[in-house]
Amino acid sequence: MQAMTPAEETRSPLDFADVTARLTNASAPDILRWVEETFRDHAAIASSFGVEDVVLIDLGSRYAPSVRVFTLDTGRLHPETYEVMEQVRRRYGIAIETFFPERAGVEELERGRGYFSFRESIEARKACCAIRKLEPLGRALASCEAWVTGLRREQSPTRAGVDAVERDDAHGGIAKVNPLAAWTEADVWACVKERQLPYNALHDQGLRSIGCAPCTRAVKPWEDVRAGRWWWESAEHKECGLHRK
Ligand code: ADX
Ligand code: SF4
Repeated sequence: MQAMTPAEETRSPLDFADVTARLTNASAPDILRWVEETFRDHAAIASSFGVEDVVLIDLGSRYAPSVRVFTLDTGRLHPETYEVMEQVRRRYGIAIETFFPERAGVEELERGRGYFSFRESIEARKACCAIRKLEPLGRALASCEAWVTGLRREQSPTRAGVDAVERDDAHGGIAKVNPLAAWTEADVWACVKERQLPYNALHDQGLRSIGCAPCTRAVKPWEDVRAGRWWWESAEHKECGLHRK
C-alpha cells in the first residue's frame, strides 16, 4: 500500500487558488520541489519522450525524485521514440510505467475501420485518440493525486492559458502541474545542451513536436511548433484530448 501524502495525513484539500498564485512565477525546480513535498509518489510525470519531457525527467530526478514517470504507448510510436525511452530508462535507472491501450478496443477499431481511420474525419481521429491515449491516461491517473506535464504556453494558441498548477477537472479534480509552462523552445534546448540530455533523433529531422508516427511530420522553420501534428486539421482541433479542460 502507498504511504499517505502530507495532504492526506492532514486531510486538508489542496487550495488551488492559493497554490496557483504562489507558484505561477516560480522556477521549474521550485515547482517540482513543491510536487515532491506535497505528493511524493502519488504524483507522476507524463512523458511522450519529446524534448520537453526528457528535460522534465532530468529536473524531476534532481528535485522530485519520488515522483513516478509514465508513458502512453499508443502502439503507433516512431522507433526513434522507443530508442530515447530506453536511453532515458537506463540513464536514470527508472522504471517507466507503460500504459498500453486496451486490446479489445484496438482490435475492434482496426477490424472495423482499418489502419488509418484517423485520416477520415476529425471524429474518426478523436475516436482513435480516445482508444489509444485517453483510456490509458485514465488508468495512469487513477493512482495519481497530481500529474506533471511538459506543456508550454508558447506551443500553440490552445495552450496560451496554461498555468504552473491547475485543478484538472477532466480527471477528477487532481492537480495538473506544468513546470515548463513559461519556458520557450530555446530554454528547453539550452537545458538539453547544458545537461547533455538524450533526445529523440527525430528532432534533428525537423520534427519539433512528436506524437504518433502517422500523425506527425516535420515542420518548416517558420511554421508553428505543432503545425506537423494532425497537419490536415485546422489549428483549433490540434489537441488529442489529453489536455481537455
Ligand atoms: S498531445 O496532447 O498533443 O499529444 P504534446 O505531444 O504536445 O501533446 O505533449 C504535451 C504533454 O502531454 C507532454 O509534455 C506530456 O506531458 C503529455 N503527453 C503527450 N503524449 C503523451 C504520451 N504518449 N504519454 C505520456 N504523456 C504524454
Ligand atoms: Fe491515433 Fe493519430 Fe491519435 Fe495516435 S495521434 S492515437 S495514431 S489519431
